[in-house]
Amino acid sequence: MKGLFITFEGTEGSGKSTQVALLVERLRGLGRTVRVLREPGGTPIGEEIRHTLKHSHASDAMTSEAELLLMNASRAQLVRELIRPALLKGEIVVCDRFFDSTTAYQGYGRMLDLTAVARVIEFAVGPTVPDLTLLVTVTPEVSEERLRSRQVNLPFVRDRIEEADRAFFDRVARGYEKIAAAEPERVRKVDGTRGVREVQADIWSHVEKLLSDSTR
Ligand code: TMP
Repeated sequence: MKGLFITFEGTEGSGKSTQVALLVERLRGLGRTVRVLREPGGTPIGEEIRHTLKHSHASDAMTSEAELLLMNASRAQLVRELIRPALLKGEIVVCDRFFDSTTAYQGYGRMLDLTAVARVIEFAVGPTVPDLTLLVTVTPEVSEERLRSRQVNLPFVRDRIEEADRAFFDRVARGYEKIAAAEPERVRKVDGTRGVREVQADIWSHVEKLLSDSTR
């Protein structure tokens, strides 16, 4: 069976991690072998980079350029260590964020040159491109409300990227819209402001189509 690569994208609090878990459960229910990954991270090297990017106080002075390269160092490792071997074995790889996050956050959010960002991504991933990307969208108000309630329910862990201001996240959201408009076949937008089950049904309709197209 052909391997399939599915990625999830969205701003903070979009609910994509919940949707990743539900999709994986459903695919495994069909008897498929599914590998679930996240970015940055997913490998031992990547998880160390994730800590540096998100939580380490040594990173307070991190430049946007260093952030771009670290995100892609983690990605280069993940692609070669896990994603390509899994796809070659015919597995389904589901990744919570992939290169569209870099375009949205470092390109549009941090306002780095988009051509340079694209070149770095290309170097990191080569030909390994998702078959389907699910962009879960929420309004800034929903995103902020979900982040607030998450912080109330979980022990506080500082997150450098989440500390950015509203204007940054508005640019990220606009960046995602541009990405989806540029590649409407690969990137499917899903309205994440609805209930978990409705969002899941919408996601499943896209995945079902991918599964049937891939067995033709
Ligand atoms: P998350 O696992 O909670 O989504 O955290 C990952 C954070 O890293 C999130 O704030 C988005 C950010 N990010 C980037 O800025 N660029 C990237 O390429 C990736 C993969 C994530």
